[in-house]
Amino acid sequence: MARKFFVGGNFKMNGSISSIKEIVKNLNEAALDAEVETVVAPPALYLQLVRDSLRSGIEVAAQNVWDKPNGAYTGEISVEQLKDSKVTWAILGHSERRTILKESDEVVASKTKYATDNGLGVIWCCGESLEEREAGKTIEVVSRQLEALKAKVSDWSRIVIAYEPIWAIGTGKVATTEQAQEVHKAIRDWLKGVSVKVTEETRILYGGSVNEKNCGELSKQPDIDGFLVGGASLKPAFVDIINCRK
Ligand code: G3P
Repeated sequence: MARKFFVGGNFKMNGSISSIKEIVKNLNEAALDAEVETVVAPPALYLQLVRDSLRSGIEVAAQNVWDKPNGAYTGEISVEQLKDSKVTWAILGHSERRTILKESDEVVASKTKYATDNGLGVIWCCGESLEEREAGKTIEVVSRQLEALKAKVSDWSRIVIAYEPIWAIGTGKVATTEQAQEVHKAIRDWLKGVSVKVTEETRILYGGSVNEKNCGELSKQPDIDGFLVGGASLKPAFVDIINCRK
């Protein structure tokens, strides 16, 4: 089965009502490649605004979700609430949450299990720091993150993996096509330990300083099935990234 190309836009903690309306308008008016699955992740406060005003065919993701049913969890949002608002995806395990908010591999895996078991799609992120890359530990780090996921998750059909080397995020230092493909291939090989079906069907996205200029070459790599875009998803050029294979 061919893997459908996937482009996610992670707005992070950026935007205002007016700038987000502008992004939505731009996406609504653009001619987008129908062969690409597109998902945008605005800050929680703007999820409903985006879902209510964005064209159908583009899905909306939260940037985090809690792993319990509705209840006394101040400051959190549940899977049930996201689904009630027609938000069908969540980003989990982003390096900013792993490093700044100290989310462990196990916490990320537990949230991913709860979200997928309850019908949400998850863009599950992994990736190494510069120090880890320079120590030759990239594959070891990513495998450790994947092992924690495998220990909890049984249904992989709702998971999209995003490989985001931390040193390439927001730095303008994109991984070379060879560096990205090498890790994506290693992730694909690791997935063989889950099943042949999961190996063949799971999308592996690249994230880290993707823009309208570098996306074309990256998209040609056999194991790169799309992108998770940060800064460039706030700009009109996001459309060019979605359409990079046209
Ligand atoms: O999740 C997307 C991300 O972390 C990459 O950000 O700004 O380097 O595209 P950016």
